[in-house]
Amino acid sequence: MDLYLIHWPVEGKFKEAWRALETIYKEGRVKAIGVSNFHIHHLEELMKDSEVKPMVNQVEYHPRLTQRELQAFCKNQGIQFEAWSPLMQGQLLDNLVLKEIADKYRKSIAQVILRWDLQNGVVTIPKSTKEHRIVENASVFDFEITKEDMERMDGFNQNLRVGPDPDNFDF
Ligand SMILES: NC(=O)c1ccc[n+]([C@@H]2O[C@H](COP(=O)([O-])OP(=O)(O)OC[C@H]3O[C@@H](n4cnc5c(N)ncnc54)[C@H](OP(=O)(O)O)[C@@H]3O)[C@@H](O)[C@H]2O)c1
Repeated sequence: MDLYLIHWPVEGKFKEAWRALETIYKEGRVKAIGVSNFHIHHLEELMKDSEVKPMVNQVEYHPRLTQRELQAFCKNQGIQFEAWSPLMQGQLLDNLVLKEIADKYRKSIAQVILRWDLQNGVVTIPKSTKEHRIVENASVFDFEITKEDMERMDGFNQNLRVGPDPDNFDF
């Protein structure tokens, strides 16, 4: 297996779960291990007793939720930051400012958002049930967003989530 993640930081359980992931990693049964939906304090708590550092943290990330502090923390720790719901589940795809930016590059809004992810060093996993959109979402390697437009897109942040906050979820 390429990558095995702990899905949510369930208090009282995630450290034990991490030990199991460390075991399968050390046995060579998985190429990389990581976490999902971990805030900085969850990562700090996990790393206090861990032998292997998480290699990935997969979290909600899109222009309305840029999680800068968490992103910087992951970068400093060598943890790859990965975006789930990078298109905000479709909620940004009729935004007029993003449309203006997208038109400038002759790309779709989805494509400029995914390119913004990559230029920010973020691994991104958009989902679509439609073949033409899967192809569209993968066609983001033939253009570059300028520094000014990157900053414009960074400025969209409103700390707005479409999914639950990892500090307050109920399973
Ligand atoms: N780790 C976690 O806790 C967690 C939580 C949530 C999600 N995820 C993962 O993150 C991945 C993506 O998240 P997501 O599906 O919630 O949200 P998303 O990728 O932000 O958005 C998916 C929505 O956008 C539409 N879409 C995709 N590409 C498009 C395009 N080029 N143009 C127009 N519409 C487009 C899709 O519709 P169509 O299908 O009709 O194209 C779908 O409604 C999934 O694999 C999911 O499993 C992980």
